[in-house]
Amino acid sequence: MSAGMEVADSLGMLRARVDAWKREGLRIGFVPTMGNLHEGHYSLVRLARENADRVVASIFVNPTQFGPGEDYERYPRTPEADVAGLSAAGCHLAWMPPLETMYPLGTARAVRVQVPGITGVLDGAHRPGHFDGVCTVVARLFNQVRPDVAVFGRKDYQQLAVIRHMVRDLAFPLELLGADIVREDDGLARSSRNQYLSAGERVLAPEIHRTLLAMRDAAQAGQGRRELEAEAVARLQAAGFVVDYAVLRTPLLVEPPESPVPGDDGQRVALVAARLGRTRLIDNLEFTLQGADS
Ligand code: PAJ
Repeated sequence: MSAGMEVADSLGMLRARVDAWKREGLRIGFVPTMGNLHEGHYSLVRLARENADRVVASIFVNPTQFGPGEDYERYPRTPEADVAGLSAAGCHLAWMPPLETMYPLGTARAVRVQVPGITGVLDGAHRPGHFDGVCTVVARLFNQVRPDVAVFGRKDYQQLAVIRHMVRDLAFPLELLGADIVREDDGLARSSRNQYLSAGERVLAPEIHRTLLAMRDAAQAGQGRRELEAEAVARLQAAGFVVDYAVLRTPLLVEPPESPVPGDDGQRVALVAARLGRTRLIDNLEFTLQGADS
């Protein structure tokens, strides 16, 4: 517990607090979020605490990362519960910037940060402009908070990869940490969007995790990528999903070789994005091909 968590809603307040900590030589950890917090987010706060002296978490529903027709307006906003939960998780400061502080010139005139290549595939292909919006806001948040270490969830696997690329290329002076995926008992990855699911959809949703496990088992048993991807898509469709993708990739999100090549360390990630009704769910599973036969 950190009973004395503060809430900053102006840059002046945030800077005064962070500057004071920095003068004391304290290491600042940072967890960016869009609020409506759950155990997944709180696990990030705890990992930040283990790797820093003071933890800042931001809550900001970022309009520039939502496409037209996506859920920006109806995205759940629960600031009181979030502040209480952050405090209980050991966060020291909640940064809740108003829209005008994040985008002083308005979103249309905002300086944008664009990462090429990796943003063109998977979620980048299905949600055009999404990762530009993510990088645009995360770069701003890094400049505002100036953390020594920032924590992101591996649940948003591609987001973490894109931010890694941005941090390296723009030389942000900070360390990035990826936190493990927090799941419900039935395997469904925790997400603010799970509450959009109807009772019937909620029963179907863990099929995504089961499909990822089947993809891993098939890959480790030597099944070819195209075949196991096709089986995963068919399985999800049969369960009632509209599938954006169900793929096997290397950690850099490129297609893995069909047959063994020298230098391949066997690291793989299976990734799924699929919709149930109006709700789009994403999940992934990291594994290595070694160990398949052991
Ligand atoms: P949001 O969806 O609120 O997620 C905030 C962070 O929590 C992300 O790093 C995400 O990967 C992590 N997270 C969410 N669910 C998780 C789970 N079940 N297990 C582990 N980590 C989980 O991601 C965003 O917000 C935004 O794009 C943001 C980075 C804040 C930029 O606006």
